[in-house]
Amino acid sequence: MAEAKIIDGKAFAAGLRARVAEGVAALKASHGVTPGLAVVLVGEDPASQVYVRSKERALVELGMNSFDHHKPADLAEADLLALIDQLNADPAVHGILVQLPLPKHIDTAKVLARIVPEKDADGFHVVNAGLLAVGSPGAIVPCTPLGSLLLIRDVLGNDLKGKRALVLGRSNIVGKPMAQLLLQQDCTVTVAHSRTQDLPGECRRADILVAAVGRPEMVRGDWIKPGAVVIDVGINRVPGAEAGKTRLVGDVAYEEAVKVAGAITPVPGGVGPMTIACLMLNTLAAACRAAG
Ligand code: GUN
Repeated sequence: MAEAKIIDGKAFAAGLRARVAEGVAALKASHGVTPGLAVVLVGEDPASQVYVRSKERALVELGMNSFDHHKPADLAEADLLALIDQLNADPAVHGILVQLPLPKHIDTAKVLARIVPEKDADGFHVVNAGLLAVGSPGAIVPCTPLGSLLLIRDVLGNDLKGKRALVLGRSNIVGKPMAQLLLQQDCTVTVAHSRTQDLPGECRRADILVAAVGRPEMVRGDWIKPGAVVIDVGINRVPGAEAGKTRLVGDVAYEEAVKVAGAITPVPGGVGPMTIACLMLNTLAAACRAAG
């Protein structure tokens, strides 16, 4: 069997970013409004710092305002809530992103609930989760699942009716919203997780397999249905071949899977760039709605 098509998320994301940049320019010209995203980072987690920097760079590149709020790890919860209140009230801020994970002394649910749903660029607020669950077009959709769906539709076309989809992982950030999106596309959706019995067997039935568990190379080649579309959301840092070096791997054993799948996202260069491009899209959309 031929090797899988490699899904080039980097190229797709570049195209999407170019379209967002056009939208930003059009909104400036028509309404004099520059979309702005406030990025809140609490603490010095190195992975979070990398993500936040690439978000801030993308905003500037696309002609949007980036309002950076980098706070020390010992920031009091009350002070973070006060910052959110201030950003909620600021008309130049159309989207608010609080980088997760937050330090342990801060109640994440409380912080996410404080963001007004209209500015919830990540789509993590319970109002947006609820709107997505009922299939409302008004929902702000979390960026990673949205980016994953765009890649799936790029490979399979817009008609996903009746496809068997397996979502591995049940997080609020990826697994649950991914399952909702695929359900909206009329897929037959299974959500699998660490307590699922016969995980390999469940995976083998799937035409579309989305892996989002954060376990390096957990999904093996023989878990994959021949010809399936495999979307690997995992970004795991593991020891590299050379001492002291690390490398990034997904949740899927790529070298095995590429021989079986019909199409597969690489790590890096697959879903990762789509997450940021969709964040830019969500920010532009929020600014368009605010401008009326
Ligand atoms: N931490 C890991 N992924 C994400 C994300 O998509 N958004 C935010 N805010 N934090 C994250």
